[in-house]
Amino acid sequence: MIPQVIIVDDDPIILKMAWNVLNDAGMKAVVLKSGKQLLEYMAENKAPDLILLDIRMPEMDGFETMERLREMEKEDAQTPVIFLTGSEDEDAEAKGLILGAMDFIRKPIIKDVLLLRVRNSVELIRLQRSLENEVIEKTRAHEQLFLNVVATLADAIDAKDAYTNGHSRRVAAYSREIAARYGYDEKSLDDIYMMGLLHDVGKIGVPDEVINKPGRLTDEEFAYIKKHPAIGGKILGNITEMPSLSLGARYHHERFDGRGYPEGLSGENIPEEARIIAVADAYDAMTSNRSYRDALSQERVRNQFVEGKGTQFDPAFADIMIAMMDDDKDFNMRQTN
Ligand SMILES: [Fe+2]
Repeated sequence: MIPQVIIVDDDPIILKMAWNVLNDAGMKAVVLKSGKQLLEYMAENKAPDLILLDIRMPEMDGFETMERLREMEKEDAQTPVIFLTGSEDEDAEAKGLILGAMDFIRKPIIKDVLLLRVRNSVELIRLQRSLENEVIEKTRAHEQLFLNVVATLADAIDAKDAYTNGHSRRVAAYSREIAARYGYDEKSLDDIYMMGLLHDVGKIGVPDEVINKPGRLTDEEFAYIKKHPAIGGKILGNITEMPSLSLGARYHHERFDGRGYPEGLSGENIPEEARIIAVADAYDAMTSNRSYRDALSQERVRNQFVEGKGTQFDPAFADIMIAMMDDDKDFNMRQTN
């Protein structure tokens, strides 16, 4: 891409000289003779790579022009500016730097100095931008990889039970939707999705024959099942970069009335994300087939939430789930395979 440079100066001799030098060097130069013209140009055209801006101009000087330019631009898309200063401008360089100028070129302008300053600056700006883009891209790729690894781990947990195929992914998706309707921001939505994916990670510590046993569990077997929240909380507690991650696993079997496990917490003492996941988890359990029963009808599931409001479930999140069900006229929100 050919670098584009705008030169703003009220002196036509300087404009002509700069235009010749930059064009001869293979750049695209645009010359404008006032700050006002620059602001008009910037309002209507794509921003250049660099602006050379004279300080001493009649009507609007370089400083004011730059201030007004910055007001027009988005904070993360500011066009680099190099000031052209006369030797008489004693404080100009300090003031220019405070305003965010990238560099200065002193008048009278020496052609080689002009060309080298412009070339170096354009190169620096390009490098900086491509580095920023690379960091953004790498970060995104890492996040995607992390999410895929977590989802795969969730699938592995679900695979222990012949009947819970896709359970963790669905619980994650339902939790995200409840939280979105409740007003969570993007970052918190990503977090609760991750917590939902991993809520049952503790099942890794429960023997397969207990998880897959058809029919009623003995007290001893049920005691095993009840350990999975604490086991999951402990496993995820090791991930110090995201301390909240363990909350969903540890507390998703607490009940709003305090009759759940492992700690018997009640009401708002249960972490909010866990109260959301509890609703999503119960919903998916009821709308999926099990070894001992088929999925319940949508109407029966809805009744469970109406009845469970304030006892099993946080009423606010039960209401959101009921609203989600009422929007889901064709009952698509369930296990399909
Ligand atoms: Fe669970």
